[in-house]
Amino acid sequence: MKNPVTVASGTFGYGEEFDRYFDVSLLGAVTTKSISLKPRAGNKPPRLVETPAGLLNAIGLQNVGIDRFLSQKAPYLRTRNATIIANIYGHSPEEYAELARRLEAEGAADAIEANLSCPNVHDARTAKGAVLVSQSCEAITVYTQAIRDATRLPLYIKLTPNVMNIQEPALAAEAAGADGVCLINTLLGMAINPETRKPRLANIVGGLSGPAIRPVAVKMVWDAARVLRIPIIGTGGISGAASAIEFLLAGATAVSVGSMSFRRPDTALRVVEGIAEYLKRHQIADVNQLIGAMQA
Ligand SMILES: Cc1cc2nc3c(=O)[nH]c(=O)nc-3n(C[C@H](O)[C@H](O)[C@H](O)COP(=O)(O)O)c2cc1C
Repeated sequence: MKNPVTVASGTFGYGEEFDRYFDVSLLGAVTTKSISLKPRAGNKPPRLVETPAGLLNAIGLQNVGIDRFLSQKAPYLRTRNATIIANIYGHSPEEYAELARRLEAEGAADAIEANLSCPNVHDARTAKGAVLVSQSCEAITVYTQAIRDATRLPLYIKLTPNVMNIQEPALAAEAAGADGVCLINTLLGMAINPETRKPRLANIVGGLSGPAIRPVAVKMVWDAARVLRIPIIGTGGISGAASAIEFLLAGATAVSVGSMSFRRPDTALRVVEGIAEYLKRHQIADVNQLIGAMQA
């Protein structure tokens, strides 16, 4: 990464959607929407609801599929000279491995981020009651090892925060060969319209993101940083340089800006510039000096 700031998967399209607002190559990397082997239409609308200081979404992993990603989306980002973190999503370890293999073979990614916040439908033996893959350490191990065996690209495992103790899944990803983890994906939530008595999302349940979840995300990064040796990309409600720096101080090595790009498309660029300004103001030579530097 050119600097410690990227964007959160699913909130920045494939990068080109934001290129008219600012030069996306100025970001540390562009993290692209979760890509699956086949294109997906996603869930029925309404798929987005605004909540207090947050956003509830049930997009359902709509994406163009790996073929179009390889033929159109990645080449576009390459022409823009952007560093690409390709986020992948599948229904089995084999599907993830296949996606990683193809991305590496086509030179379409500089790193892989595996979204393991997906339903654990593959293997009942590793599920042990887990609804999502990254709620089961056994499943994380199987999925991470499969992707690790398929690619030499840097591999980040994106974990769900919907667990009792984030240290266990984070350590499982590290032990299985991940180069880093991304924390956090969305927190499960729902909203109901009292007038109609109907759920506000067609899917009923969705994922909560935005500043509402920031303190939860900072705490999870801090928890994970105390036990991991591999780096963490911190995510959750970052709205400017100050909140990005919170994540670095808690132990993240990099950050990604998600929902707040919907409010101001250039939020991530302002975070890049704001961190540089902060370093200057505090006479800090290297941003790495901020990692885990909270003074308790
Ligand atoms: C509309 C929307 C779509 C998302 N799609 C994905 C996705 O496809 N893959 C993924 O790993 N995370 C996805 N996420 C989760 C974000 O990448 C991020 O982890 C989460 O929103 C927390 O960051 P934020 O509070 O800054 O938005 C999505 C989030 C939103 C709001």
